Amino acid sequence: MKIDVILGLQWGDEGKGKIVDYLASNYDIVARFQGGPNAGHTLKFDGQKHVLHTIPSGIFRENLINVIGNGVVIDPITLQKEIDNLNKTGVSFLDRLFVAKKAHLILPTHRHIDAATESFKGKEKIGSTLKGIGPTYMDKTGRNGLRVGDIMLPNFKERYEALKEKHNSILKLYPEIDFDLKAEEEKWFAGLETLRSLKQINSEYFINKALKSGKRILAEGAQGSMLDIDFGTYPFVTSSNTVSAGVCNGLGVAPSTIGEVIGITKAYCTRVGSGPFPTELTGEVGEYLRAEGGEFGATTGRPRRCGWIDIPQLNYTIMLNGVTQLVVTKVDILNNFDEISVATHYHYDGKQQDELPFDLSNVPVEPVYKQYPGWKQSLDGVRNYEDMPINVKNLVGAIENQLNVPVSIVSIGPERQELVMKEIKELVN
Ligand code: GDP
Ligand code: IMO
Ligand code: MG
Repeated sequence: MKIDVILGLQWGDEGKGKIVDYLASNYDIVARFQGGPNAGHTLKFDGQKHVLHTIPSGIFRENLINVIGNGVVIDPITLQKEIDNLNKTGVSFLDRLFVAKKAHLILPTHRHIDAATESFKGKEKIGSTLKGIGPTYMDKTGRNGLRVGDIMLPNFKERYEALKEKHNSILKLYPEIDFDLKAEEEKWFAGLETLRSLKQINSEYFINKALKSGKRILAEGAQGSMLDIDFGTYPFVTSSNTVSAGVCNGLGVAPSTIGEVIGITKAYCTRVGSGPFPTELTGEVGEYLRAEGGEFGATTGRPRRCGWIDIPQLNYTIMLNGVTQLVVTKVDILNNFDEISVATHYHYDGKQQDELPFDLSNVPVEPVYKQYPGWKQSLDGVRNYEDMPINVKNLVGAIENQLNVPVSIVSIGPERQELVMKEIKELVN
């Protein structure tokens, strides 16, 4: 068997949670491979909304195993809150939730450092979610980190204190900011007890054995490819590899085990936090998209920046990920437009270009747009692709054509069932 991958092709919040939840019923295991509680994945079904940060989006599917892989960074406080929320829903999941022993732990002082360093950056700030992601991955690569498996060791407390002391000495370099370490530590150690009670695994063996025995595995990405530490809009990125290559070191599997790579894009584009965004709409249209699309961060509640869909950007992330099929989400948010714009190229260095420059922050890139007619009607209740308005088909067909990858699903609402499996390839242009 192969591992299929679902990941975001833009700057995050493409609707990964919804699509993973929907497709999960075809799999035996859903595994997160990177990121941490900076992620906010929203699922809606039976009129209820659920937001997951660390726990994979397959958790609501009966009998399905959910793995938090070694590439993920875990904050026991957030994990505890997620578990408490899940417990309230009545879903039984603790025997289906597995945590990699090699996953790194986010300490309260990692969050403190995150806040202090962001505040120190002033206008240059990244717009981090302040969940301690950067400092934790820094300790991982700096070979100082603490891992889930370490909490079982008799000297864990000493190691924790040593790392905390190191963090406190770093914090002396920064202006003081409000942070109640004592209160956070109390919650952290309580969360640690819960983490201790979960099923801890050597996830690399677990996943590879599952593959060998014919289990179907879906890897769930967090963030988006444009936030990848190597290929995103650096330094306005997160600290992990969000692209499909991250599946290999985030779960411990060989490149040859990767099967379908399902790339998700909104029918427009959003970004939360700082950094370049070539097709951003700062006026009325952007505000309309934000209001209509409910574009506020699922983790921080911050308003998301909105803009048109960007073909050069998507072609870049499709290339990086080896995307084999596309999912286009939030098409319904465009229901009321007379015309919809698609950025087909960039103009910079005096000519039309298809490739992204080295650094989007420092090159004044002008998107070249093409307009497509809107459909001016609700898509509520549409369940067959044939029943979609012709102008939806034209737009989806144009996107598909310019990206050279087939669209398999078109999502038209936040609820689990609000999507259309696209069977017929309608190509315009
Ligand atoms: P993720 O981080 O990629 O899982 O995405 P988020 O959950 O942060 O943001 C996506 C938002 O869009 C959530 O509020 C979803 O409920 C919602 N959503 C997902 N797909 C659709 C869709 O097709 N139409 C509409 N209207 N909302 C959607
Ligand atoms: P999901 O999985 C959107 C952004 C932050 C910031 C930058 C670095 O829900 O798509 P970090 O907290 O990692 O230090 O922040 O990355 N960011 C996200 N934006 N969706 C996310 O996750 C994000 N996770 C991080 O806003 O600009
Ligand atoms: Mg999100």
